[in-house]
Amino acid sequence: MSLYLFCLVFLLLLLLFIIFHLVYTNFIEPGAVYFPTPDATVTNMLKLAKVSSADTVLDLGSGDGRLLISAARLGATTIGYEIDPLLVRRSRQVITKAGLSHLASVKAKSLWHADFSSVTIITLYLFPQYMNRLQRLLDKKLDHPTLLISHDYQFPHKKYIKKQDNLYLYRFTPKT
Ligand SMILES: C[S@@+](CC[C@H](N)C(=O)[O-])C[C@H]1O[C@@H](n2cnc3c(N)ncnc32)[C@H](O)[C@@H]1O
Repeated sequence: MSLYLFCLVFLLLLLLFIIFHLVYTNFIEPGAVYFPTPDATVTNMLKLAKVSSADTVLDLGSGDGRLLISAARLGATTIGYEIDPLLVRRSRQVITKAGLSHLASVKAKSLWHADFSSVTIITLYLFPQYMNRLQRLLDKKLDHPTLLISHDYQFPHKKYIKKQDNLYLYRFTPKT
């Protein structure tokens, strides 16, 4: 194969990969780019929801696992859903190093396929354009009362029960 043909095939494959990645992250399994919640805000989120050892906390898009670790330090069972394999690996390592593997875990899975059955508190920090879609999913899937704290962004069609700085606390109750 000539060098010209090789470069052409390489560029074509690269272009296909970029298009697939853009479609996947924007339309099929969207969420947000990785931007960690500052530690002080993590503390405020957990305080706002009064997280305790009786809770199961789900972080949708769990990043480096900081929310999972802080909530586990309060005794809560914590589960993260994270789509980026490098962040999944890193957060699992940090959880193990912190000795919290009995309480905290990370699923290498899209948040749009999360299991909400045992959750009492949901935390998230996602792009605002997906809040509506997420509300529809939660209204459909949650079959028990659940608190949710969103960092920075509100649900456009749902009233929060409390606002503290850039944090919004919601209560989801199943429709009968
Ligand atoms: C803004 S960061 C927030 C990270 C963490 N929750 C925090 O507060 O520090 C959003 C995270 O969601 C992840 N993410 C984006 N789309 C996702 C999806 N469909 N399923 C699971 N995680 C996703 C990103 O990889 C990123 O780690």
